Amino acid sequence: MKKICLILIMASVKVCFGQLPLYKQKAASVEARVKDLVGRMTLEEKILQLNQYTLGENTNKNNIGDETKVLPPGIGSLIFFSADPVQRNLVQKKAMEQSRLGIPILFGFDVIHGFRTVYPISLAQACSWNPALVTENCSVAAKEAVLSGIDWTFSPMIDVARDPRWGRVSEGYGEDPYANAIFGVATVKGYQGNNLSNPYSIAACLKHYVGYGMSEGGRDYRYSDVSAQSLWETYLPPYEACIKAGAATVMSAFNDISGVPASANHYTLTDILKKRWGHDGFVISDWDAIEQLIYQGVAKDKKEAGLKAFLSGVEMDMRDNIYFENFKQLIAEKKIPVSLVDESVARVLRVKFRLGLFDEPYTTIMPEKDRYLQPESKALAAKLAEESVVLLKNKKNTLPLAGSIKSIAVIGPMAKDTNNLLGSWSFNGRPADVESIYKGLENEFANKLQLNYAKGSGFEGTDESGFAEAVSIANQSDVILLCLGEMKTWSGESASRSSIALPSIQEKLLVELKKTGKPIVLVLSNGRPLELARVEPLADAIVELWQPGVAGGTPLAGILSGRVNPSGKLPITFPLTTGQIPTYYNMRQSARPFDKMGDYQDIATEPLYWFGHGLSYTSFEYGTPKLSAQKINKSQELTVEVTVKNTGGVKGKEAVLWYVSDPAASISRPVKELKFFEKKEIGAGASAVFTFTINPMRDLSFPDATGKRILESGDFYVQVGNQKIKFELVD
Ligand code: GLC
Repeated sequence: MKKICLILIMASVKVCFGQLPLYKQKAASVEARVKDLVGRMTLEEKILQLNQYTLGENTNKNNIGDETKVLPPGIGSLIFFSADPVQRNLVQKKAMEQSRLGIPILFGFDVIHGFRTVYPISLAQACSWNPALVTENCSVAAKEAVLSGIDWTFSPMIDVARDPRWGRVSEGYGEDPYANAIFGVATVKGYQGNNLSNPYSIAACLKHYVGYGMSEGGRDYRYSDVSAQSLWETYLPPYEACIKAGAATVMSAFNDISGVPASANHYTLTDILKKRWGHDGFVISDWDAIEQLIYQGVAKDKKEAGLKAFLSGVEMDMRDNIYFENFKQLIAEKKIPVSLVDESVARVLRVKFRLGLFDEPYTTIMPEKDRYLQPESKALAAKLAEESVVLLKNKKNTLPLAGSIKSIAVIGPMAKDTNNLLGSWSFNGRPADVESIYKGLENEFANKLQLNYAKGSGFEGTDESGFAEAVSIANQSDVILLCLGEMKTWSGESASRSSIALPSIQEKLLVELKKTGKPIVLVLSNGRPLELARVEPLADAIVELWQPGVAGGTPLAGILSGRVNPSGKLPITFPLTTGQIPTYYNMRQSARPFDKMGDYQDIATEPLYWFGHGLSYTSFEYGTPKLSAQKINKSQELTVEVTVKNTGGVKGKEAVLWYVSDPAASISRPVKELKFFEKKEIGAGASAVFTFTINPMRDLSFPDATGKRILESGDFYVQVGNQKIKFELVD
């Protein structure tokens, strides 16, 4: 009898094992598992996979009307606000065990510049010209996110932006397509690692696709007049680079692209993204962006909005529930083909399989002290903060602070602030984790010199009652360190400002302190280029700290003391005044580029600081670039070398930016275009050789209005440092 039972048990185990559905078999290929699962799903189950709801308390004020829904177990995805892995696992368990097929939920969140170990905002990261360091920081963010129950981040934001009135300029990598591409790819690599199924990999999401940075007047959510030429030349390149780098998902934007909103734009979402670039992940809409098609005037109701978005190529609906509420009817009316539903569900499932969610659906629960803010994580954040700082001005070598300095008047609303150094999109960052500027100074200068502190003023308002105390301690000190800037809510989403100047109270404080005659070192913490026309003449030195996250105080102090030589360079131009916007380095040439014709009558036309500006405590001398040939044909590469000598007395890191220009082409070209960069540390008195290998199709061609690459023979220039050298491309 026992033998019979044993045989029966063995058989049932074998049968069970043998009949484990293919999609549950880890050894099967992702495509086979996707196909098998889609084939088993009901229409209702399929539709659920195309919806994303929210879970946890939504702290993003811009996303109005949010509430935690009664979650069906088969929901495709959740924006996971609570960051509690235990809660995540409970909800996931419900999905795995109560839904018929046990399809895991994809938990997404905005992990933008760090999770709990917040590092500098993206615009600051680009000042480092150190993509590898960005990748390292993003890997930390990914691990902290995974340990908090997150599988997917809505990052990187790679929207080229040239209007600093737009608050979201803080979230991208500046005004240049190539810089956005390189830092976008670095970020994708940091999040996704070399395999999405790695235990600490999370899926990236490229946003906001596409042309969002052209939002009219720097106001948010607006119409963006994007010509076909600028779409291909400026706004698409970062996306193409990141898709090629394997980015798992894309987020469709809020803006209306010249009459066809980004979230209902078949040309960008399907023709380009899927057919031309072969993206096999999926597109999620931005928050309620599908419903917003109604307000944008291209849908009469939610049903039509859902139909247009889906047929255009938006696979998943973020939060407005339109797909869930309307798809059964749209399919019944044969307006949506089931084949397209199947393909869209396959795209979502493909990302879930690649992430390994079917095989490892739960988060490992670690004690909170082991999840976040590890020493090595904070060290990486500090290193990135250090390399992101830009020395904008340093009259008479005010910096580094001389050994004769015995006291510093540390003044300003930013001096002891912690909350605003976190920057926008830092939901899990905590002020208590942040090292303030003052704390960094204490660490750096403890027992070496006297720190005298006064707040002086608030960030805004008219209260000048703190001026007297500030002036008083300034008079008692050898130098003034004035810490000004923006609150973190002044940049980021829905944070447009008609003027990029600092509030007048801050400028007035500077004017009062200037009257003391003491040297003034101005430290800025902000999320956008600022209008410094009235400020710049009053400061002896200006240090752009940006919003460095948790570890900015010591890096800044190291730069002030000279322990660190600043190496940051701007990835975005600082206009002299708001009235100059837009002004950016890769503009087209004026028709009358002489005698200041066409310039402003009332102010200078040159911006205050160009893209690429950044000072050092040492000096770098660029030799004459050497070409491997004066002439190449289209199948040859041209190597250009430049020797950079550190002619100063201290070692320093130098980011060498290489540009090309095409003075006569069938379509007018920018005055110059960044095509490569490299950063090296060079010892005092030493030299380093920097090499740029020009590939004609990659570096000298340009897209026409259809995206076709055009490579034309003729004269070109390669520019590096302040040198410009001609070469010829022949057929
Ligand atoms: C927001 C933002 C987007 C973000 C999303 C989810 O409205 O536009 O960048 O990822 O909603 O929070």
